[in-house]
Amino acid sequence: MRAAKFSEHGGVDKISIGDFPDPECGPGDAVIKVNAVSLNGFDPMILGGTTGLPTPFPMIPGGDFAGEIVELGSEVKDWSVGDRVCPHPFVPGEGMTGETRLGAASEYARIPAIHLIRTPDAVSDDDAAALPIAYGTAYRMMLTRGKVTASDTVLILGATGGVGTCCVQLAKAAGATVIVTGSAQWKLDKLSELGADHVIDTSQEDLVKACHAIAGKPRMGMTGDSGGGADVIINYIGGDTWAQSLRCLKPDGRMLTCGATAGYAPPTDIRYIWTYEQNIIGSNGWTAEEQIAVLDMVATKALIPVIHASRPLDQIAPSIQELIDRAIVGKTIIRPNE
Ligand SMILES: NC(=O)c1ccc[n+]([C@@H]2O[C@H](COP(=O)([O-])OP(=O)(O)OC[C@H]3O[C@@H](n4cnc5c(N)ncnc54)[C@H](OP(=O)(O)O)[C@@H]3O)[C@@H](O)[C@H]2O)c1
Repeated sequence: MRAAKFSEHGGVDKISIGDFPDPECGPGDAVIKVNAVSLNGFDPMILGGTTGLPTPFPMIPGGDFAGEIVELGSEVKDWSVGDRVCPHPFVPGEGMTGETRLGAASEYARIPAIHLIRTPDAVSDDDAAALPIAYGTAYRMMLTRGKVTASDTVLILGATGGVGTCCVQLAKAAGATVIVTGSAQWKLDKLSELGADHVIDTSQEDLVKACHAIAGKPRMGMTGDSGGGADVIINYIGGDTWAQSLRCLKPDGRMLTCGATAGYAPPTDIRYIWTYEQNIIGSNGWTAEEQIAVLDMVATKALIPVIHASRPLDQIAPSIQELIDRAIVGKTIIRPNE
């Protein structure tokens, strides 16, 4: 089959398009014709070898995918060749598709059938492929773990990415007031169109000062009452933004994280955690039920995935470079069978 592949860590020049062995369908597996695969923040990290995870070379990038079943293992029941699916891409024992197991930027991909999730008729393959990793993670972080409601002011850092744009949409759907950060005005304009109430351009403004000007400065009163600050902060950026974010969180506020794009062992400031009785909440992955909930939201138009571009397989290297250059808003879709 035709696939995008790389055999050593480095930049996008390590990616080539060429022949790759067809996937072998085990007794409990399904082989999917991949109509759409989406890129995530981890694709440049896996290519660059910066995560500490072992990479099985030669490697195919791309974690999320949607398409149709072309082959089923002898033990698989309840599914038929031709069914449209959008699998849950995390396979216990093998890891995440595109991280420690072969990605799906290829004409065909194998997945244990237990991971198959049906794509609703009203959802296109491009939209379905945009959802699992970014939107599933955002759904769990915002709703299941973060319990965001209409009374919350939510600060979302790096809101221009795949996870971030969905966080903005879910926070607005919950009725919350939303503050976003981004590194360029054109990206922030797109987030305003999505409903963001306040924007902070981190290439021009100091995060802490700008957030205090919008949401007020957190203060701990004798009665436990708070002054200002964001009720909820979504911070999967880490790095220097971690300690800065602690200074923007309301007393008893919730800071949620699902990643650390700019560094996972940043300096922190423990004084803020005890003084303001802050809650630091982790969120990891998403369940099949949460993925189905997101697919249903898209099927009913309660959620419209933000697609930056939809391109053929030979455009995958420049598309990953765009992620590295922080030059996109939302998700890039690659169509391996086009
Ligand atoms: N635990 C899980 O299950 C899980 C699942 C999915 C994702 N994640 C994690 O969640 C995070 C977000 O993923 P993603 O796919 O949406 O995209 P991403 O590429 O990590 O980017 C999100 C945004 O972060 C900003 N950014 C990128 N590099 C940065 C840097 N060095 N310093 C500061 N800001 C930077 C960019 O916005 P601006 O340029 O506009 O600032 C970008 O749009 C990642 O850390 C990812 O690993 C975790």
